[in-house]
Amino acid sequence: MAESRTMLLFGGTGRAGQIVRREATASGWKVVAPTREECNLLRPEEVCDYVLNMPTAVVVNCAAISGLESCADDALAAHLVNAVSPAQMALACRHTGARFMHLSTDYVLDGRRAGKKREQAHCKPVSTYGESKREGELQVLEAFPEALILRVSWICGNPARPSFVETTLSRALRGESIAAIADKWSMPTHAADIARAMLELIPPGQSGVLHVCSTGEPLSWHDCARIALRCAQQMGKIDRLPDVEQKRLRGASFFREPRPVHTAMDSSRLREMGVIMPSGEETLRRAVKDFFFCGDHECVKINQ
Ligand SMILES: NC(=O)c1ccc[n+]([C@@H]2O[C@H](COP(=O)([O-])OP(=O)(O)OC[C@H]3O[C@@H](n4cnc5c(N)ncnc54)[C@H](OP(=O)(O)O)[C@@H]3O)[C@@H](O)[C@H]2O)c1
Repeated sequence: MAESRTMLLFGGTGRAGQIVRREATASGWKVVAPTREECNLLRPEEVCDYVLNMPTAVVVNCAAISGLESCADDALAAHLVNAVSPAQMALACRHTGARFMHLSTDYVLDGRRAGKKREQAHCKPVSTYGESKREGELQVLEAFPEALILRVSWICGNPARPSFVETTLSRALRGESIAAIADKWSMPTHAADIARAMLELIPPGQSGVLHVCSTGEPLSWHDCARIALRCAQQMGKIDRLPDVEQKRLRGASFFREPRPVHTAMDSSRLREMGVIMPSGEETLRRAVKDFFFCGDHECVKINQ
């Protein structure tokens, strides 16, 4: 019999997982977070038994092969970690009655049409990563229809696992040039807001796919960089706003896998459930604050 406030967390060392672990623990949850040595998702045949032998009230999956190029380089590993193993977790939860929450991505969308997408929008991933994540969504729901799949996008707010936002700030502090893609749009999401949404949605009732992201207008990486730098300046951390060179997705030769263009999600369903997400600008402001005041850069100020 599982204790009521126990959580089994896969991917507890990742960008989202570290923050989910911190926030859940702060909210009084006892979190068990196996390392990949303790439960390797490349071996899905062991995952169901692992969950069955570790009875907890809630199982959260933040684990994934999240790099697009890594997925392209090893499509089998992406299939096992992003789809087959989550389905095994879901199957085990169906047996134990545990609440199951699984993170997915806006990259399951093809991104051809501008505008924000709701949960029922057609999915047609354009990358191996997106395909494996979409397959994960379908397999999880087939194994356990009561599971909740939180689709998130552009996670920021964990200085220990820098995203595009934190990398931009680091470059600004070092006085390096900054460039960002200006023709691809999504919604930044603070890892702590993902954790908060998860914790609020633990009581049973909601299932299926749910968009969990900031509100407001879609932003490009270029928009995000400029907003983050402006916040840093307002916080007195940089004196002068650096230029941000506009790059085009087509010219980004370091991306070997295609990226979808318009994947901004509409989080109205989440709001209808009573979970209020901040705007993209508020999300970025909080990530900048966390970068300067919770990370290694405390008290850093460099004049350029
Ligand atoms: N980052 C984003 O902007 C973003 C955007 C949209 C959706 N998402 C989704 O959000 C979720 C969390 O992403 P993230 O950025 O936090 O990921 P991340 O930082 O790459 O972390 C991935 C986690 O998965 C674990 N993992 C990977 N392979 C494993 C294996 N074979 N066995 C056990 N554990 C394994 C990693 O463990 P190790 O520490 O051992 O490597 C790590 O804890 C994922 O589902 C991702 O698809 C992310």
